[in-house]
Amino acid sequence: MSLRLGDAAPDFIAETTEGPIRFHEWIGDRWAILFSHPRDFTPVCTTELGYVARLKPEFDKRNVAAIGLSIDPLDSHRGWAADIKETQGYAPNFPIIADPERKVANLYGMMHPAHDEVYTVRTVFVIDPKKKVRLTITYPQTTGRNFDEILRVIDSLQLTDAHKVATPVNWKQGEDVIIVPAVSDEEARAKFPKGWRALKSYLRLTPQPGR
Ligand code: BEZ
Repeated sequence: MSLRLGDAAPDFIAETTEGPIRFHEWIGDRWAILFSHPRDFTPVCTTELGYVARLKPEFDKRNVAAIGLSIDPLDSHRGWAADIKETQGYAPNFPIIADPERKVANLYGMMHPAHDEVYTVRTVFVIDPKKKVRLTITYPQTTGRNFDEILRVIDSLQLTDAHKVATPVNWKQGEDVIIVPAVSDEEARAKFPKGWRALKSYLRLTPQPGR
């Protein structure tokens, strides 16, 4: 069965381009994004890996560790890094798991045989410091992912973990947020001193807390 939101992220040991890891230990007290690539030396994956490397300062700011996965072996991953640097301007600055036996791919439901029997689809898992799955997204092999969106979701998750708020459609850092319906107006007055705009009794918008 596939992993669902709130499930414990399965632990595993794996070989990576930065040495062997035990996944939970490697995450430590950080957030993690684990994302699969169908295979090495493919065009879409090349653009994605360069972009994730470019986003490293953004991940660091949010205490997020990135880790890729492809079913090709380590020497292939290492050879590919030079192409990624040459074409995208950034070489991978995070580990990439070599998973030729598809142990991690099967553990995380990255193999979708009706789509492709041999190679993984493009999955993304956001995992929190308690090692719970907080986001899963699955893309077809032919569609490059939007890693800006993944950062946006992490911003929302970190904010909504800290405050009793939710984030509206297309929300971005700095924009108004929603006071969750479980919070009474009385409680909201104490928690949100900047006040709120009530469009409906269940739709109360308040400035993003902590800014
Ligand atoms: C790619 O990464 O470019 C790719 C991988 C598998 C199928 C199609 C495209």
